[in-house]
Amino acid sequence: MSKLWGGRFTKTAEEWVDEFGASIGFDQLLVEEDIEGSIAHVKMLAKCGIVSEEEALQIQNGLQTLLKKAKNGELEYSVQNEDIHLNIEKFLIDEIGPVGGKLHTGRSRNDQVATDMHLYLRKQIDEISKEIKQLQTALVTQAKAHVETIVPGYTHLQRAQPVSFAHHLLAYFWMLERDFSRYQDGLKRVNISPLGAGALAGTTFPIDRHYSAELLGFDRIYENSLDAVSDRDFILEFLSTSATLMMHLSRLCEEIILWSSQEFRFIELDDTFATGSSIMPQKKNPDMAELIRGKTGRVYGSLFSLLTILKGLPLAYNKDMQEDKEGMFDAVTTVKGSLKIFTGMIESMTVNTDVMKQAVHSDFSNATELADYLASKGMPFREAHEVVGKLVLQCIQQGVFLLGLPFSQYKEASELFEEDIFEVLDPKTVVARRNSAGGTGFDQVRLALEKAETLL
Ligand code: ARG
Repeated sequence: MSKLWGGRFTKTAEEWVDEFGASIGFDQLLVEEDIEGSIAHVKMLAKCGIVSEEEALQIQNGLQTLLKKAKNGELEYSVQNEDIHLNIEKFLIDEIGPVGGKLHTGRSRNDQVATDMHLYLRKQIDEISKEIKQLQTALVTQAKAHVETIVPGYTHLQRAQPVSFAHHLLAYFWMLERDFSRYQDGLKRVNISPLGAGALAGTTFPIDRHYSAELLGFDRIYENSLDAVSDRDFILEFLSTSATLMMHLSRLCEEIILWSSQEFRFIELDDTFATGSSIMPQKKNPDMAELIRGKTGRVYGSLFSLLTILKGLPLAYNKDMQEDKEGMFDAVTTVKGSLKIFTGMIESMTVNTDVMKQAVHSDFSNATELADYLASKGMPFREAHEVVGKLVLQCIQQGVFLLGLPFSQYKEASELFEEDIFEVLDPKTVVARRNSAGGTGFDQVRLALEKAETLL
């Protein structure tokens, strides 16, 4: 079969070479964007008098027919036509005759493919943003039910200070809020039109780039034709934001995996989000959380892959850039899938409040409170730290926790201790009193919940 660009060639490439060079296997995902872009382009050509109104209508009708066929899965793409752009152009000419060949006036596949990807990412960022809000909603719903559920807070994965479980969950809400805003900010740089930049240098036809940009809902056009067709920084930014989002999800995955272990037993995942073992009948594995943690790697990979693809490329378009797509598509699928699964996993998990309560009553995470107590009575904090450290040591030697140590031992350690320390040491008091802005105090957490809800 002869190529749409075959004029200057005397030999046709062999099929296996065509196959290696073709992108139709994956860029067919851009079919709707490709047709949408072509419709705007031909409307612009007609408005500028470059094709007649009648020709433009014929082309638009042909493209609409192809769009319908594409949506019904009726288009049979061929590797000989290399990519989505040439496939659609060939279908169009088959559909409406030689007039279809006028569509490509004043544009190149280079500005065309860039346009397709801008349109594609704009849509996907919108969908991802909605998924983020869903997950944030699930976190807020769980948090609301657990403002007064207290869990050990950790540093170095060692019990540190008790916190409200809602506070812990809301930490992820705020990470996701920043991811959301990173995607939204990135949209400013996605929503720019490369269309009409031509192969690299613009075109001799009196086109109106602003008009086609407006038809496609772009905010503005790329100012430089070389830049328009050769940069992929808008995809890099998307991948970097996605890598950050996945890193956040992966950290929560790690916690979910820990929390659902026999050692912690803080939560139980719903059966839908866990799997069994083929050999060990007792197992309930947090597979979905592990998988999301694992999939984070491929998104990082796509970011690195694209950075590497681009770093040595002279202006303008180079075929290397065809390698920009699979990583982008894969990141979209991975991010959307992970967010969806995560939302279900959070909504349906059971929180073992008894186990959490038991945990905070059997550790020393209230020790800081005791040091603060002495400090608030005038003892320099450094000394207070030392006194409490010694009390903790006595507890360890006697096999009790701070609440179980007799008052006499407190008095011996410092005259400043009064009977009210047992009230102060209660984990509930410990949490309630951490009411500095953004702290885990119940009042602060309720305030944070209100703020979070206004952002949903
Ligand atoms: N399939 C190509 C890509 O994805 C489209 C652009 C081709 N342009 C060219 N001059 N060969 O990059």
